Parts: sequence; structure tokens; C-alpha cells
Amino acid sequence: MTHWDIRPVTAADLDAVYAIFAACISPCWKKETFAARLDHPCAVVLAAWQEGKPVGFADGECAFGLCELNNIAVLPQYRCRGAGNALLLALGRAAKQRDCVAIQLEVRQSNQAALAFYRENGFVQVGRRKNYYTAPTEDALLLDKHLQEEEKDDETAGD
Ligand SMILES: CC(C)(COP(=O)(O)OP(=O)(O)OC[C@H]1O[C@@H](n2cnc3c(N)ncnc32)[C@H](O)[C@@H]1OP(=O)(O)O)[C@@H](O)C(=O)NCCC(=O)NCCS
Repeated sequence: MTHWDIRPVTAADLDAVYAIFAACISPCWKKETFAARLDHPCAVVLAAWQEGKPVGFADGECAFGLCELNNIAVLPQYRCRGAGNALLLALGRAAKQRDCVAIQLEVRQSNQAALAFYRENGFVQVGRRKNYYTAPTEDALLLDKHLQEEEKDDETAGD
């Protein structure tokens, strides 16, 4: 099992983490928009490191007891090795420290890999936004995970 070093993204990591965003997520945000996340008081932006460089990241927004997962991505050559899982667990821990009770997110209904990943990580569908995405037009599925469920993962992590 690969060990993943999960750390908050700093200004020094911005170029490398933004390159992951640009390579994995479309449409990509402007770099200045993403850079502003690093200083936002509600943001939790984490990167997974391997071989001395960031290879994945997660960007969550914690406010009013909920953590909105804006983006999560892992470089293709590092996928299916647990990095996404490690990022979500770390985000959940950080969100609980900020008094959040759940993580919520939107995902394109055609993104079968992400849907499988989220379901494997305990998310359930709680809604749908018709034609939410453009280019191409597509529904968003709303998924939700209550953070108490993660306590089980945390408790067994050292077993
Ligand atoms: C979604 C994503 C972040 C998952 O990252 P990852 O590091 O590959 O995920 P993990 O290795 O931690 O996978 C955990 C579990 O999720 C499921 N899963 C992950 N990728 C999957 C895929 N392509 N197909 C089916 N199940 C998948 C598996 O059950 C996996 O557990 P297993 O390896 O023991 O079978 C990655 O595929 C990605 O970057 N996709 C492109 C960006 C994206 O679509 N982001 C989400 C929308 S913003």
C-alpha cells in the first residue's frame, strides 16, 4: 500500500498544484482564482506528495458546518493507488476540526470514475441539478457524506 504524505498547499507549491488542476479538470479555473484559495480563511487546500512532488490535491470550503469539496484530482499516472482516498480522509479530518458535519459536492453525471470513487468513500446522492454544467450541458449529481462515518475509518487506521 502506497504511503501518501498529505500537506496543506503553500504558495511555494502553487505552480505544481495548479498544473495538476489544469491537467485533470475541465474547465480549469484561472490561476489567480486558484491562488486566492490558498489565503481564503474558509479554504482547506491539501496536496498528496510522492517522490518529492505534489501529484494530487483537494480543495474544500468549510463554512456554516458544511465542507464543500470544490475540486479533487490526482495525476493519471498516480491514480488507483489510494491518493484520492488519503486526500478525502485528510479533508474530512480538517473539516471536522472546523466543526463541519458533512462534506458535499457536485459531480457530472457522466464522470463514472469519480462517482465510483465517491461511492467507495461513503458518499450518497442527495439531489440533482438539471443542466448545471455547460460545454457539454449536463446534470450535476449532488453527493453528501456525513463525517461521523469517517470516525470508523480513523479508529481502524492504526489496526
Ligand atoms: C477521482 C480521482 C480523484 C480518484 O483518485 P484516485 O487516487 O485514483 O483514487 P483512489 O486510488 O484513492 O481510489 C479509491 C477507490 O475509489 C474507486 N475508484 C477510483 N478510481 C476509480 C475508477 N477509475 N473506476 C472505478 N472505481 C474507481 C475504487 O473503489 C478505489 O478503491 P480500490 O483501488 O481499492 O478499488 C481521480 O480519478 C481523478 O483525478 N479524476 C479526474 C478528476 C476528477 O474527475 N475529479 C472529480 C471531479 S472534480
